[in-house]
Amino acid sequence: MTPLERQLAGEIRASGPIGVDRFMAAALGHYYGTRDPLGAGGDFTTAPEVSQVFGEILGLWSADQWQRLDGPLPVRLVELGPGRGTLMADMLRALRVVPALRQAVEIHLVETSPALRARQAATLAGSHPDVTPHWHDALADVPEGPMLLVANEFFDALPIRQWRRAGETWRERLVGLDAAGQLAFTLGPEGHPPIPPPNDAPDGALFETCEPALAVAREIGRRLSRAPGAALLIDYGHGRTAAGDTLQAVKGHAFAPVLAEPGEADLTAHVDFDALGQALAAVGANVAPLAPQGQFLIDHGANLRLDALLRGKDEDAALVLKAGVRRLLDPMEMGRLFKVLAATSPERSPP
Ligand SMILES: C[S@@+](CC[C@H](N)C(=O)[O-])C[C@H]1O[C@@H](n2cnc3c(N)ncnc32)[C@H](O)[C@@H]1O
Repeated sequence: MTPLERQLAGEIRASGPIGVDRFMAAALGHYYGTRDPLGAGGDFTTAPEVSQVFGEILGLWSADQWQRLDGPLPVRLVELGPGRGTLMADMLRALRVVPALRQAVEIHLVETSPALRARQAATLAGSHPDVTPHWHDALADVPEGPMLLVANEFFDALPIRQWRRAGETWRERLVGLDAAGQLAFTLGPEGHPPIPPPNDAPDGALFETCEPALAVAREIGRRLSRAPGAALLIDYGHGRTAAGDTLQAVKGHAFAPVLAEPGEADLTAHVDFDALGQALAAVGANVAPLAPQGQFLIDHGANLRLDALLRGKDEDAALVLKAGVRRLLDPMEMGRLFKVLAATSPERSPP
């Protein structure tokens, strides 16, 4: 038993089963707080770690949005869950094509992990020594004003609750202890999911809700409606609210049992983009139709950027560059499962 598992078991013995959200928050707090889990030597990889083209295209998208907003200054470039800082470093490099923005932009990183904050500081000090990033625990702590916000694989790491359909009612899925004292799923009393579950969910189906994700989306939308700005949320998930069990654990680039070794594996759940879009729109943001990541990157010039990068490269370097971009774009890899939700301030046409 890991120390966190012992702590959770003690909590359950004292007060009864806990929500999946409490389990996920405790496990991910320990997991991200104690390591850099990204890359080949870690547990999983992400688009910015696969190819620099990802961050460069997001940088160009942000610069384009800023120009469409008539170039407000000062402007904050905000990233939620910046991982190793690679995405921000690649975006800042691309922003050099708009010097007025690159020179004026303030960097705000929303990151709770001390280990990853240190990694982000090292990445940005090495690649952009002229910038002074500011770190925050939550978006609510970032000063208000014109903003360009990006979040890649942030929302899938926020704690979800799970609900099981039982005839005409729903019961929350909880984490309790089995006869051997091991963490095990159980069901709570009848309850109401915080957003309406799909009517066609069959008996026994699981439905997932993520209140922290909706709260962050509302905060983004509120900020966009008060000051000019644009936001790009990228994650894997579904475009329509649907039933399904998507909670998964990944360790060493392989799936692991969800309840085994809490705090030692990554835990994620698919993002409900339908609910996120509605939360943004409900507070006045202008929300664009959801786009598959591959299509979004192609439409914004990923292949042109690849061609430019390939110029003068030897065969080995060219193969690596091409494989990275293919992984981002290919519908069988990250191109379709990952999706892009864009939002802007209300008076603007959708991005
Ligand atoms: C899956 S990683 C994605 C990293 C990066 N965006 C990338 O694409 O490589 C999730 C990131 O979100 C951070 N994170 C997770 N939960 C968070 C929370 N509640 N508040 C702020 N950051 C959080 C993690 O520490 C990590 O930096």
